[in-house]
Amino acid sequence: MISYNRFYQKIAQSRLSHWLNTLPAQLTLWQKENLHGEFAQWQKTLEALPKTTVSTIDLSSQVKAGERDDINDGEFKRIENLLKKFKPWRKGPYHIHGLHIDTEWRSDFKWDRLKNHISPLQDRYVLDIGCGSGYHLWRMRGEQAKFVVGIDPTQLFLMQFNAIQHFINDDCVNLLPLGVEDLPELKAFDTVFAMGVLYHRRSPIDFLYQLKAQLAKGGELVLETLIVDGDINTVLVPGERYAKMRNVWFLPSCDAMCAWLERVGFKNIRVVNTDITALDEQRKTQWIDTESLQDFLDPNDNTKTIEGYPAPKRAIFIANI
Ligand SMILES: C[S@@+](CC[C@H](N)C(=O)[O-])C[C@H]1O[C@@H](n2cnc3c(N)ncnc32)[C@H](O)[C@@H]1O
Repeated sequence: MISYNRFYQKIAQSRLSHWLNTLPAQLTLWQKENLHGEFAQWQKTLEALPKTTVSTIDLSSQVKAGERDDINDGEFKRIENLLKKFKPWRKGPYHIHGLHIDTEWRSDFKWDRLKNHISPLQDRYVLDIGCGSGYHLWRMRGEQAKFVVGIDPTQLFLMQFNAIQHFINDDCVNLLPLGVEDLPELKAFDTVFAMGVLYHRRSPIDFLYQLKAQLAKGGELVLETLIVDGDINTVLVPGERYAKMRNVWFLPSCDAMCAWLERVGFKNIRVVNTDITALDEQRKTQWIDTESLQDFLDPNDNTKTIEGYPAPKRAIFIANI
């Protein structure tokens, strides 16, 4: 069983206290009914991680906890072997006591693309919807956010987050195993991030309403998603697969995405970055055993996916309520 008591105590004293009306019952039910078949084994792996002295933590230029010299060779090997049990590691990279978890994605590239465009996170309550293993949660805390909550329903990513949390141990950074549809209208966060999630949603407009409902008055949305070139009327709805992914529904143009945000009531909408995903940002490493971007593109024309659609291009939108 995972105990969320520390989290509940923390939010009881905060502007998130009304979440306690629904969250404990939800998470208790989740632990009773929805645990992954390998959950118990994963928990054992987590519990086997050695308790170490972490001499340094850097969250502002990378996600790094501890130095190699803090631990002996046996502990290093043990940490490496245990963390490899949580493969595939998709989002990162992480540096734990000199161990470089070279994840499939260089999530730091995305952070670098957006960090100078967002309102400073210092002292803010921040929510990251679909946060994966939580790489960006740590970078948000590195920008001095007061309290950072991530939600993601994929339980392996929760384990990866808990493994990193084992070493960093910061109770102002939390990941809850929830989907966006599990959130009540909290209206409490200063910044809501939703990166790489919209195209997985079958109802993107409803999704935007769900994001808006989490923001405090005057709050900021940072939304990143796959887009296509085109005018305000251009939206790609791919066939069964896009870049081998089965669960991709709507890829709007930037203008169409801005129109959706406006329709839902966001203001001050701007596109701060567009970027074609490069082969050095998403690639196969020793920390994943599956395919990666190179395998999802047309081998004769990297401007197209293997299905013949435009290759992945992403945009970052910022808006306020
Ligand atoms: C492409 S990843 C993006 C991860 C991270 N935000 C980033 O930008 O690197 C999409 C994430 O959305 C999560 N996800 C899937 N369904 C979700 C839902 N209903 N609510 C919230 N997150 C969801 C997945 O588990 C996955 O971690």
